Amino acid sequence: MSQKVRGVVAPGKGAPVRLETILVGDPGPGEALVRVQACGVCHTDLHYRQGGINDEFPFLLGHEAAGVVEAVGPDVRDLEPGDFVILNWRAVCGRCRACRRGRPWYCFDTHNAAQKMTLADGTPLSPALGIGAFAEKTLVAAGQCTKVDPTASAAVAGLLGCGVMAGFGAALNTGNVSRGDSVAVIGCGGVGNAAVAGARLAGAAKIIAVDIDDRKLTWARGLGATHTINARRHDVVEAVREATGGFGADVVIEAVGRPETYEQAFYSRDLAGTVVLVGVPTPDMRLDLPLLDVFGRGGALKSSWYGDCLPERDFPMLIDLYLQGRLDLDAFVSETITLDGIEEAFARMERGEVLRSVVLL
Ligand code: APR
Ligand code: ZN
Ligand code: ZN
Repeated sequence: MSQKVRGVVAPGKGAPVRLETILVGDPGPGEALVRVQACGVCHTDLHYRQGGINDEFPFLLGHEAAGVVEAVGPDVRDLEPGDFVILNWRAVCGRCRACRRGRPWYCFDTHNAAQKMTLADGTPLSPALGIGAFAEKTLVAAGQCTKVDPTASAAVAGLLGCGVMAGFGAALNTGNVSRGDSVAVIGCGGVGNAAVAGARLAGAAKIIAVDIDDRKLTWARGLGATHTINARRHDVVEAVREATGGFGADVVIEAVGRPETYEQAFYSRDLAGTVVLVGVPTPDMRLDLPLLDVFGRGGALKSSWYGDCLPERDFPMLIDLYLQGRLDLDAFVSETITLDGIEEAFARMERGEVLRSVVLL
């Protein structure tokens, strides 16, 4: 039996999103039906709407979400109705070559619900990142549901489902930021500012935030930046070196996803330091660096997929730190909106006015 719920659909390349009636089936084997309580608005949703990810329209948007499990498929054991969960977009398989080597955060065969949600006329929907949570209810793989402490608000918990986790993980998991490190973060949107907060949590001694927008730098200060650099007014490489005794930072996190900022990250890092790319580039972008510098400067050039997170390990831990007052997740919720406010939220996101707009359902 399908249920009728409301959901936000991107109908075609570049077209405005529409609030539609969608049909959501009962969970089959390995699936869970989740009543969505909150879902953040992320750039990736806008990329889907623009046709920048693939052409499988119509999309059911939304993927940074938390909610309550309403029903589970017949074989699902470790999840039950009433569980408060954060949805993740990488349910690990446990069987691929990465999982078998004990590196499930790299899982090369993550999965989603087998059944499709549809429009009222039966047209199948492609859920954004296999989630589709700008909807009152969504159907996902049970492994996409990670249980966390239900005393956290859904608006805050949902953030960990995507961008904020990517930023924390870039610092904590991929960059291995440790006590005493100097860290620079280039690009301080939701992702970069989460990297700033992650670096503070790890005990970094210097946290240098770089952006072209002073509002973002003010937020970065609040989340733990010890230095801020406006890249419109300063040479980033010189300014980071100046802040680090002339050497560069131990770890530099690139959270924009552009060749120019990657090059700045590359040269603002100390010898044998680490660059983490968490910003997502577009297919047309190319990087041109002297190979001798890649060799001669040593260290590590890494990318961070979803913050190299392991939802089962990282989501509950970060929520606990939040509940203890050690991690300011509230700072990322710039505003709360309703399902009919997504187009306006995209516009505010593009103007840089918010870290995250969060839809409450
Ligand atoms: N130098 C420094 N900062 C820049 C520059 C630049 N040349 N260009 C843009 N920025 C800043 C923007 O001002 C903004 O604050 O980078 C930030 C990017 O943040 P958002 O647009 O809010 O995006 P966010 O959600 O943080 O994601 C950042 O990570 O997951 C990926 O696809 C995502 O590529 C995107 C990146
Ligand atoms: Zn796997
Ligand atoms: Zn996202």
